[in-house]
Amino acid sequence: MIIAPSLLACDYRHFAKEALRAQKAGGDWLHLDIMDGHFVENISFGPEVVRVLRPLSKMFFDVHLMCSKPEILLEPFAKAGADNITVHVELGERVTPLLWKIRALGCKVGLAINPPTAIAHAEPFLSQIDLLLIMTVNPGFGGQPFIHEMLPKIQQAAAWRRERGLGYRIEVDGGINRDTAAECARVGADTFVSGTALFGQRQMKRAVETMRKAVTAAAPMAKHREPAMC
Ligand code: DX5
Ligand code: ZN
Repeated sequence: MIIAPSLLACDYRHFAKEALRAQKAGGDWLHLDIMDGHFVENISFGPEVVRVLRPLSKMFFDVHLMCSKPEILLEPFAKAGADNITVHVELGERVTPLLWKIRALGCKVGLAINPPTAIAHAEPFLSQIDLLLIMTVNPGFGGQPFIHEMLPKIQQAAAWRRERGLGYRIEVDGGINRDTAAECARVGADTFVSGTALFGQRQMKRAVETMRKAVTAAAPMAKHREPAMC
Protein backbone atom coordinates (compact mmCIF):
# COMPACT_ATOMS: atom_id res chain seq x y z
CA MET A 1 0.00 0.00 0.00
CA ILE A 2 1.41 3.34 -1.07
CA ILE A 3 0.26 6.65 0.37
CA ALA A 4 1.13 9.60 -1.88
CA PRO A 5 0.55 13.07 -0.45
CA SER A 6 -0.17 15.54 -3.26
CA LEU A 7 1.89 18.72 -3.13
CA LEU A 8 -0.91 20.59 -4.92
CA ALA A 9 -2.56 21.03 -1.52
CA CYS A 10 0.52 22.36 0.28
CA ASP A 11 1.31 25.87 1.46
CA TYR A 12 2.84 27.36 -1.73
CA ARG A 13 5.00 29.77 0.24
CA HIS A 14 7.04 26.81 1.46
CA PHE A 15 7.36 24.06 -1.16
CA ALA A 16 10.55 22.62 0.35
CA LYS A 17 9.28 22.61 3.94
CA GLU A 18 6.02 21.05 2.85
CA ALA A 19 7.72 18.31 0.84
CA LEU A 20 9.76 17.47 3.94
CA ARG A 21 6.61 17.50 6.07
CA ALA A 22 5.11 14.83 3.79
CA GLN A 23 8.24 12.72 4.10
CA LYS A 24 8.41 13.05 7.89
CA ALA A 25 4.73 12.17 8.10
CA GLY A 26 5.52 8.79 6.55
CA GLY A 27 4.21 9.42 3.03
CA ASP A 28 5.72 6.91 0.58
CA TRP A 29 5.52 8.88 -2.65
CA LEU A 30 5.27 12.60 -3.33
CA HIS A 31 2.57 13.21 -5.93
CA LEU A 32 3.36 16.20 -8.15
CA ASP A 33 0.42 17.58 -10.15
CA ILE A 34 1.48 19.44 -13.27
CA MET A 35 -1.29 21.55 -14.82
CA ASP A 36 -0.87 23.62 -17.96
CA GLY A 37 -4.00 25.80 -18.00
CA HIS A 38 -5.13 24.06 -21.21
CA PHE A 39 -5.67 20.33 -20.57
CA VAL A 40 -7.18 21.49 -17.28
CA GLU A 41 -8.36 24.93 -16.16
CA ASN A 42 -5.58 25.54 -13.69
CA ILE A 43 -1.83 26.10 -13.64
CA SER A 44 0.36 24.59 -10.94
CA PHE A 45 4.16 24.41 -11.16
CA GLY A 46 6.85 23.16 -13.50
CA PRO A 47 10.06 21.11 -13.64
CA GLU A 48 12.10 23.74 -11.82
CA VAL A 49 10.14 23.15 -8.61
CA VAL A 50 10.71 19.40 -8.96
CA ARG A 51 14.42 19.96 -9.62
CA VAL A 52 14.99 22.02 -6.48
CA LEU A 53 13.02 19.56 -4.31
CA ARG A 54 14.89 16.50 -5.61
CA PRO A 55 18.04 16.72 -3.48
CA LEU A 56 16.00 17.50 -0.37
CA SER A 57 13.81 14.42 -0.45
CA LYS A 58 14.21 10.64 -0.55
CA MET A 59 10.61 10.14 -1.62
CA PHE A 60 9.60 8.57 -4.92
CA PHE A 61 8.52 11.47 -7.15
CA ASP A 62 5.23 10.64 -8.86
CA VAL A 63 4.69 13.23 -11.60
CA HIS A 64 1.13 13.49 -12.96
CA LEU A 65 1.04 15.49 -16.20
CA MET A 66 -2.35 17.10 -16.84
CA CYS A 67 -0.98 18.78 -19.94
CA SER A 68 -1.96 19.02 -23.60
CA LYS A 69 1.63 18.76 -24.84
CA PRO A 70 3.45 16.28 -22.60
CA GLU A 71 5.85 15.62 -25.50
CA ILE A 72 7.78 18.78 -24.60
CA LEU A 73 7.75 18.05 -20.85
CA LEU A 74 8.90 14.45 -20.50
CA GLU A 75 12.60 15.16 -20.75
CA PRO A 76 12.55 18.23 -18.47
CA PHE A 77 10.68 16.30 -15.75
CA ALA A 78 12.88 13.19 -16.12
CA LYS A 79 15.99 15.39 -15.79
CA ALA A 80 14.44 17.21 -12.83
CA GLY A 81 14.20 13.91 -10.93
CA ALA A 82 10.81 12.32 -11.65
CA ASP A 83 10.69 8.61 -10.75
CA ASN A 84 7.34 8.03 -12.44
CA ILE A 85 5.68 10.08 -15.17
CA THR A 86 1.97 9.69 -15.86
CA VAL A 87 0.23 10.92 -19.02
CA HIS A 88 -3.48 10.85 -19.83
CA VAL A 89 -5.19 8.29 -22.05
CA GLU A 90 -7.37 11.12 -23.42
CA LEU A 91 -4.40 12.10 -25.63
CA GLY A 92 -5.48 9.26 -27.94
CA GLU A 93 -3.07 8.11 -30.63
CA ARG A 94 -0.23 10.06 -28.99
CA VAL A 95 -0.28 7.78 -25.93
CA THR A 96 1.86 4.90 -27.25
CA PRO A 97 4.88 7.01 -28.27
CA LEU A 98 4.58 8.93 -25.00
CA LEU A 99 4.73 5.71 -22.97
CA TRP A 100 7.76 4.54 -24.98
CA LYS A 101 9.51 7.84 -24.41
CA ILE A 102 8.90 7.80 -20.66
CA ARG A 103 10.37 4.28 -20.52
CA ALA A 104 13.36 5.33 -22.64
CA LEU A 105 14.04 8.18 -20.22
CA GLY A 106 14.42 5.62 -17.42
CA CYS A 107 11.23 6.50 -15.54
CA LYS A 108 8.33 4.32 -14.46
CA VAL A 109 5.39 4.62 -16.82
CA GLY A 110 1.95 5.81 -15.71
CA LEU A 111 -1.34 6.19 -17.57
CA ALA A 112 -4.23 8.26 -16.19
CA ILE A 113 -7.91 8.15 -17.06
CA ASN A 114 -10.47 10.90 -16.42
CA PRO A 115 -13.91 10.22 -14.92
CA PRO A 116 -15.92 10.56 -18.16
CA THR A 117 -13.57 8.27 -20.13
CA ALA A 118 -14.53 4.59 -20.28
CA ILE A 119 -12.00 2.22 -18.71
CA ALA A 120 -11.91 0.27 -22.00
CA HIS A 121 -9.75 3.08 -23.43
CA ALA A 122 -6.94 2.09 -21.05
CA GLU A 123 -7.10 -1.62 -21.86
CA PRO A 124 -4.77 -1.66 -24.89
CA PHE A 125 -1.94 -0.15 -22.83
CA LEU A 126 -2.05 -2.32 -19.72
CA SER A 127 0.94 -4.47 -20.61
CA GLN A 128 3.10 -1.37 -21.18
CA ILE A 129 2.52 0.47 -17.92
CA ASP A 130 3.68 0.36 -14.31
CA LEU A 131 0.76 2.35 -12.98
CA LEU A 132 -2.85 3.02 -13.91
CA LEU A 133 -4.16 6.24 -12.38
CA ILE A 134 -7.93 6.25 -12.08
CA MET A 135 -9.09 9.83 -11.51
CA THR A 136 -11.83 9.97 -8.90
CA VAL A 137 -12.55 13.67 -9.56
CA ASN A 138 -12.38 15.72 -12.73
CA PRO A 139 -8.79 16.96 -12.68
CA GLY A 140 -7.83 20.58 -12.19
CA PHE A 141 -8.41 21.40 -8.57
CA GLY A 142 -7.87 19.88 -5.16
CA GLY A 143 -10.61 19.64 -2.56
CA GLN A 144 -13.37 18.20 -4.76
CA PRO A 145 -15.70 15.41 -3.63
CA PHE A 146 -14.89 11.80 -4.54
CA ILE A 147 -16.98 10.39 -7.44
CA HIS A 148 -18.30 7.02 -6.24
CA GLU A 149 -19.21 5.96 -9.78
CA MET A 150 -15.48 5.37 -10.37
CA LEU A 151 -15.39 2.30 -8.11
CA PRO A 152 -16.39 -0.17 -10.87
CA LYS A 153 -13.46 1.10 -12.98
CA ILE A 154 -11.07 0.17 -10.17
CA GLN A 155 -12.72 -3.22 -9.91
CA GLN A 156 -12.31 -3.80 -13.66
CA ALA A 157 -8.66 -2.69 -13.59
CA ALA A 158 -8.01 -5.12 -10.72
CA ALA A 159 -9.77 -7.96 -12.57
CA TRP A 160 -7.68 -7.39 -15.73
CA ARG A 161 -4.52 -7.31 -13.65
CA ARG A 162 -5.37 -10.60 -11.97
CA GLU A 163 -6.58 -12.38 -15.11
CA ARG A 164 -3.57 -11.34 -17.19
CA GLY A 165 -0.93 -11.70 -14.51
CA LEU A 166 0.12 -8.05 -14.87
CA GLY A 167 1.81 -5.98 -12.20
CA TYR A 168 0.68 -2.38 -12.66
CA ARG A 169 -0.28 -0.38 -9.60
CA ILE A 170 -3.82 0.93 -9.37
CA GLU A 171 -3.66 4.51 -8.15
CA VAL A 172 -6.62 6.67 -7.21
CA ASP A 173 -6.54 10.46 -7.14
CA GLY A 174 -9.16 13.02 -6.09
CA GLY A 175 -11.27 13.33 -2.97
CA ILE A 176 -9.26 10.62 -1.23
CA ASN A 177 -9.56 10.59 2.56
CA ARG A 178 -9.53 7.75 5.08
CA ASP A 179 -13.03 6.56 4.13
CA THR A 180 -12.89 6.91 0.34
CA ALA A 181 -9.39 5.37 0.32
CA ALA A 182 -10.80 2.31 2.12
CA GLU A 183 -13.63 2.06 -0.43
CA CYS A 184 -11.06 2.07 -3.24
CA ALA A 185 -8.80 -0.45 -1.46
CA ARG A 186 -11.74 -2.79 -1.03
CA VAL A 187 -12.11 -3.08 -4.82
CA GLY A 188 -8.40 -3.30 -5.65
CA ALA A 189 -6.63 0.08 -5.46
CA ASP A 190 -3.17 0.00 -3.85
CA THR A 191 -1.83 3.53 -4.33
CA PHE A 192 -3.62 6.50 -2.78
CA VAL A 193 -3.04 10.13 -3.75
CA SER A 194 -4.36 12.57 -1.23
CA GLY A 195 -3.96 16.34 -1.09
CA THR A 196 -6.43 18.16 1.13
CA ALA A 197 -7.00 15.26 3.55
CA LEU A 198 -3.27 15.05 4.33
CA PHE A 199 -1.70 18.49 3.80
CA GLY A 200 -4.76 20.09 5.38
CA GLN A 201 -4.01 18.34 8.69
CA ARG A 202 -1.85 19.86 11.36
CA GLN A 203 -0.93 16.30 12.38
CA MET A 204 -0.16 14.89 8.97
CA LYS A 205 1.65 11.88 10.42
CA ARG A 206 -1.48 10.78 12.19
CA ALA A 207 -3.55 11.27 9.03
CA VAL A 208 -1.10 9.14 7.00
CA GLU A 209 -1.14 6.40 9.65
CA THR A 210 -4.93 6.39 9.83
CA MET A 211 -5.22 6.17 6.05
CA ARG A 212 -2.66 3.36 5.89
CA LYS A 213 -4.52 1.36 8.54
CA ALA A 214 -7.85 1.92 6.80
CA VAL A 215 -6.60 0.74 3.38
CA THR A 216 -4.68 -2.20 4.78
CA ALA A 217 -7.74 -3.43 6.63
CA ALA A 218 -10.00 -2.92 3.59
CA ALA A 219 -7.76 -4.58 0.98
CA PRO A 220 -9.01 -7.91 -0.38
CA MET A 221 -5.71 -9.60 0.56
CA ALA A 222 -5.86 -8.43 4.18
CA LYS A 223 -7.22 -11.74 5.50
CA HIS A 224 -4.26 -13.63 3.99
CA ARG A 225 -1.84 -11.44 5.89
CA GLU A 226 -3.26 -12.28 9.29
CA PRO A 227 -1.01 -14.62 11.26
CA ALA A 228 -2.00 -18.25 10.86
CA MET A 229 -3.74 -19.87 13.81
CA CYS A 230 -1.59 -22.45 15.55
C1 DX5 B 1 -6.64 16.78 -9.08
C2 DX5 B 1 -5.21 16.33 -8.85
C3 DX5 B 1 -5.04 15.70 -7.53
C4 DX5 B 1 -5.28 16.60 -6.35
C5 DX5 B 1 -6.08 15.81 -5.35
O1 DX5 B 1 -6.72 17.41 -10.29
O2 DX5 B 1 -4.79 15.43 -9.85
O3 DX5 B 1 -3.78 15.04 -7.39
O4 DX5 B 1 -4.10 17.05 -5.75
O5 DX5 B 1 -6.45 16.66 -4.34
P1 DX5 B 1 -7.51 16.26 -3.23
O6 DX5 B 1 -6.94 15.09 -2.50
O7 DX5 B 1 -7.63 17.49 -2.42
O8 DX5 B 1 -8.78 15.90 -3.95
ZN1 ZN C 1 -2.82 14.06 -9.48
